[in-house]
Amino acid sequence: SWTMVNIVEDAVTAVREQVGDGRAICALSGGVDSAVAAAIVQRAIGERLTCVFVDHGLLRKGEAEQVERDFVAATGVKLRVVDAAERFLKALAGVSEPEEKRKIIGREFIRVFEDEQRAILADGPADFLVQGTLYPDVVESGGGTGTANIKSHHNVGGLPEDLKFSLVEPLRALFKDEVRRAGEELGLPAAMVWRQPFPGPGLGIRIIGEVTQERLDILREADAIAREELSRAGLDREIWQCPVVLLADVRSVGVQGDGRTYGHPVVLRPVTSEDAMTADWSRVPYDVLSRISTRITNEVREVNRVTLDITSKPPGTIEWE
Ligand code: XMP
Repeated sequence: SWTMVNIVEDAVTAVREQVGDGRAICALSGGVDSAVAAAIVQRAIGERLTCVFVDHGLLRKGEAEQVERDFVAATGVKLRVVDAAERFLKALAGVSEPEEKRKIIGREFIRVFEDEQRAILADGPADFLVQGTLYPDVVESGGGTGTANIKSHHNVGGLPEDLKFSLVEPLRALFKDEVRRAGEELGLPAAMVWRQPFPGPGLGIRIIGEVTQERLDILREADAIAREELSRAGLDREIWQCPVVLLADVRSVGVQGDGRTYGHPVVLRPVTSEDAMTADWSRVPYDVLSRISTRITNEVREVNRVTLDITSKPPGTIEWE
């Protein structure tokens, strides 16, 4: 629309004025906010923006490719990809406690990102760090400028102690729906623009128990099936998000094919919500639930039971960890 074109153009102009002929760095998370922020800055300063994508190995099926291939194709952004999956797995080995997992994932992310920043700075000075801060984040944190407004649980893009940058926040005046429309205007991949909320620590906090490669592979397949069937049923906009949780330390007996199995349950957690502060369990039609259950137990060998979480928030949180 006319207004959206103007919002994008105004943001591009403002970034150009702020950055001048300087260079900027942006961390991409796979989510819509960092993607739209990066796309705007790319329009403003082109090659003088370097994006960094730290692949922690905890994203869902297809999401890393969305960033590395589709987002780059759509924007022409200069991107450095760090495959840090092994490093994160090693750091998470033996850890089951949720807050401990979050801390480790956040810490490793910052370390990897700092290394990348140093490598980028070796090519020449960069004074600006791009962040996808939205208007509601600004209000929530008291509206300060010049420092990183990052919610404590938001694990992407923390400012390193010894590297000083000015923040570029092209989405500071926008609400989420405006960011999505800007993303469409900028021609970003629909799967990114319309991605439902997904936590920074990713699948790491959806495996109840220790995070291992095998467990990640199982959960990734089950999650992809649930997402595919919910989309196919046209429920993407109605459902706020639908965590799929692997109860990795629980086993239950089942019969699959010709034999007795001793596999793992997964939990479907579809919720409706306005802002994630409160939520209700989503009344997904039985036939959709049935298709998800049948497909997961047929296609993911290690899962022999699919359960539905019917708890509102409060008392249950949306995520299980
Ligand atoms: P809860 O589980 O607290 O989740 O009801 C509320 C919303 O926040 C997301 N969430 C996170 N996002 N890092 C994030 O970036 C986190 O550690 C984290 N924990 C929860 C959750 O997906 C929901 O949208």
